Amino acid sequence: MNPTTAAPSSSSKQLSARLRAARDRSQELFGIVRPTALYDRPIPERHRIIFYLGHLEAFDWNLLKDPLMLSSFDPGLDKLFSFGIDPVDGGLPTDQPNDWPSLEQIQRYTSQLRQVLDRRLQDVFADDPNLATLEQGRLLEVAIEHRLMHAETLCYMLHQLPLDRKLAMVQPVAPDAPAHVSCMVEIPAGTATMGLPSGGAEVFGWDNEFQEIRVAVPAFAIDTHSVTNRDYLRFVREGGYSDRALWSEAGWEWIASSGRRHPAFWVPRGDDWACRTMFQEISLPLDWPVYVSHEEANAYASWAGKELPSEAEWHRAACGTRAGAEREYPWGSEEPCSSLGNFDFHRWDPAPAGSYPAGASDFGVTDLVGNGWEWTRTPFAPFPGFEPFSFYRGYSADFFDGKHFVMKGGSPRTAACMLRRSFRNWFQPRYPYVYAKFRCVNR
Ligand code: AVJ
Ligand code: FE
Repeated sequence: MNPTTAAPSSSSKQLSARLRAARDRSQELFGIVRPTALYDRPIPERHRIIFYLGHLEAFDWNLLKDPLMLSSFDPGLDKLFSFGIDPVDGGLPTDQPNDWPSLEQIQRYTSQLRQVLDRRLQDVFADDPNLATLEQGRLLEVAIEHRLMHAETLCYMLHQLPLDRKLAMVQPVAPDAPAHVSCMVEIPAGTATMGLPSGGAEVFGWDNEFQEIRVAVPAFAIDTHSVTNRDYLRFVREGGYSDRALWSEAGWEWIASSGRRHPAFWVPRGDDWACRTMFQEISLPLDWPVYVSHEEANAYASWAGKELPSEAEWHRAACGTRAGAEREYPWGSEEPCSSLGNFDFHRWDPAPAGSYPAGASDFGVTDLVGNGWEWTRTPFAPFPGFEPFSFYRGYSADFFDGKHFVMKGGSPRTAACMLRRSFRNWFQPRYPYVYAKFRCVNR
């Protein structure tokens, strides 16, 4: 069966509850922005915050209006808010706050949109319980996961917003990390079963997760713990940012032209360092994973005489077992919960590396899912048999350009539904604001 016709098994009741929960997530985020900051642009490469307020609703509308036979009441705003931009190397957007509609106008648009959409959805749930009009519910899964992805990417953005431009939220304390020494474990040769079989109707997956692919992975060794601020500090102090030999050509050009000398989350404080958390500036938490761009991760790996893992190696370290069978999650088949890792919006920031031993993989590798996405050395590309979704052709295909790298796992701000092993995330290598950590391998 074709992936666009297979039916995920969620009921309409579950889907509407999940849509509501996802809307609460996005609402919560806009709630931390002080009203005077709504037209700010915390990341120069990205849209102003205000865009996302319209985008999340316009996306759902543009996706669902035709299948639900609804007609636009404001095609201009549907279009204005249709696409977020991928940060482009070089050129920066130059629009001004005044180029955007007023908050009142946007709120009128979004509330009318939700009203019309929700009324029609209620009818569909009643009249078409199998959701045939919504591709068996798949269109709602797309709307839900799209919104939840933005709940994370918007959070990267608000992370860069000056502290006095946002309202602080409480943050539960991280568990005490068991004392540890990071070491490398040997992963014997074996199979990584990546992706999803088409026709497997139980789970939703994006276009890039199809089809299933079995890869033979030769033996390799991998760090049991992600690289921490303490580890990375040595690289910085020993001149990592001044050693041409450690960097790719584009990476060297990037740090040279931007004067970058440290991760975007670090703040120089005299001879020492502070760290920007979501709501505070604190002295650098040495045991937290370091969040860096792909280029910086790669330079560190070269300095350490190692490499970043491939997507298949990450998969094997996470889901492989000594006995041979593969697991859905590093810890087994249990659904994600807060004792297994730092994900699903419990915290706003990382926890010390190794804080969730119960979530370790069978090989004893910690934090593979949660506490920060993990960079791989694999360029984002389609699996064999890839077919774009007919209703959203560009979701992945627009980024199969060899200029994006696969990230696996998840961050403190990744929703539980996207922690499935087949989920693939990707970013440009010189985008330093992502909640992405890394670990190294030897082959
Ligand atoms: C899958 C997170 C890389 O934010 O660029 C949101 C998700 N696509 N709207 C991104 C996405 C369109 C995408 N990532
Ligand atoms: Fe989007």
